[in-house]
Amino acid sequence: MWKIELLIYSLVIVGTSCSSVNNKKFPDSFLLGTATAAYQIEGAWNEDGKGENIWDRTCHSDPTRIFNNENADIACDSYHKYKEDVALLKDLGVSVYRFSISWSRILPTGYLNEINQLGINYYKNLISELKANNIEPLVTIFHWDLPQPLQDIGGFPNDRIIRRYVEYARVVFDNFGDDVKYWITFNEPKQTCRGGYAALGDAPFINSSGIGEYLCTHNLLKAHAETYHMYNKEFRDKQNGHIGITIDTVWAEPDSKDKADVEAADRLIQFTYGWYAHPVTHGDYPEVMKQFVGERSAKQGFSESRLPKFSKAEIHGMKNTVDFLGLNYYTSVMAKHKNDEEKTAIDWDQDSEVDTYFKPEWPSTASSWLKIVPWGMRKILNWVNKNYEGLPIIVTENGVSENGTTLEDDVRIDYYRDHLSGVRDALDDGVNVIGYTAWSMMDNFEWTRGYSEKFGLYSVDFNDPERKRTPKKSVSFFKQFLATRCLVEESKCVAA
Ligand code: NOJ
Repeated sequence: MWKIELLIYSLVIVGTSCSSVNNKKFPDSFLLGTATAAYQIEGAWNEDGKGENIWDRTCHSDPTRIFNNENADIACDSYHKYKEDVALLKDLGVSVYRFSISWSRILPTGYLNEINQLGINYYKNLISELKANNIEPLVTIFHWDLPQPLQDIGGFPNDRIIRRYVEYARVVFDNFGDDVKYWITFNEPKQTCRGGYAALGDAPFINSSGIGEYLCTHNLLKAHAETYHMYNKEFRDKQNGHIGITIDTVWAEPDSKDKADVEAADRLIQFTYGWYAHPVTHGDYPEVMKQFVGERSAKQGFSESRLPKFSKAEIHGMKNTVDFLGLNYYTSVMAKHKNDEEKTAIDWDQDSEVDTYFKPEWPSTASSWLKIVPWGMRKILNWVNKNYEGLPIIVTENGVSENGTTLEDDVRIDYYRDHLSGVRDALDDGVNVIGYTAWSMMDNFEWTRGYSEKFGLYSVDFNDPERKRTPKKSVSFFKQFLATRCLVEESKCVAA
């Protein structure tokens, strides 16, 4: 008997924590690189005509929301140091670099009444520097930094945002589209909507929990779909790019084999990834969301579901509006069905009726929300592939934080190796994953956590006016990986 138990135990261990590193090369066409975002690295917050955005406003008017009252006025100063950054990327050996465009650098008021040529020039220069170094730009059109004037009229819950976003995106395609083949309309929309309008974790820190996050999402999804159609109509023929959206999710592992827990785990991913991915592929929210939010809203006495409804025409317009799906994966949770007969709480989190927890043995990091669970990568990639019928997937973010006390970041080396191994395993499983960009190229402004949580391959000295960049130990690992496209010693590598 004990032999069987030992065997089961070993299988569990192998299947969960000690799985070996995949020794197959990544295909030559597989995009490999690093990622950043405008607000977190650029600085130059009011230079050359840039307008104010919602994070500028928070940092300046409500600084106690940010760790140590820090701000991103200078951040990594990439606005001035982009050539140096591209040289570092070149040295690292990336084939792709993901960065975002700051809306208020291009349209300082958020509207078309002012178009800032100096802002446009900055991104033109960055893109041509990347291209001159054979690095493919992967461009996020919106990474959380909404122009403040658009927030002043309500931000994403006001459906005017749809027109404003589409016209901003048109300026972006018009100016940069000849040189950009991969576009991401929105980064982590759940953070924009839930963090910004429900849970108070992100600007603009509005708390309309259970209502605001759904309205925000509804408009954001429409803005995404309209932008996709606008691109098809006005740009695709001559620019030939691919448009996607980047959605973040945990992997949710059922707490037990009980049907209720297995369904709860899947439901949680439907409420996080499916909330956005289902509409842009199948045209509407996942059935399980419609059911759970609908029933709960009715029980709470609302006259209609707090989850807004798409009309038939909108469903038609929403369907098939991505060429690829972006996935940001950092961590996993254990998921358990929550018996919530009362259904009193009005909140996205409660609407899903799932309880979550971290396993105590999962290693901690500098970020309270991030436990290291590499095997979740393979599982979530398979989930996305299965649910969205083999659409190309790019892992647009994956990374780990430390607190900057050492440049010997072995934790990051292990993290990247094990997660990339999960990506390679997923390729073996037949998942259509086509790229991976590590978060992040360098330490940067980690939103309300300021500079306290460091995700960079390069360390940045934020006390130095020059913002000196220094490679951490993980740079040599990553460089070797990019040069060989393989996660193990070259002699043990097997062709793709
Ligand atoms: C997701 C966000 O897109 C990025 O801005 C952030 O810094 C990382 N995750 C790490 O928290």
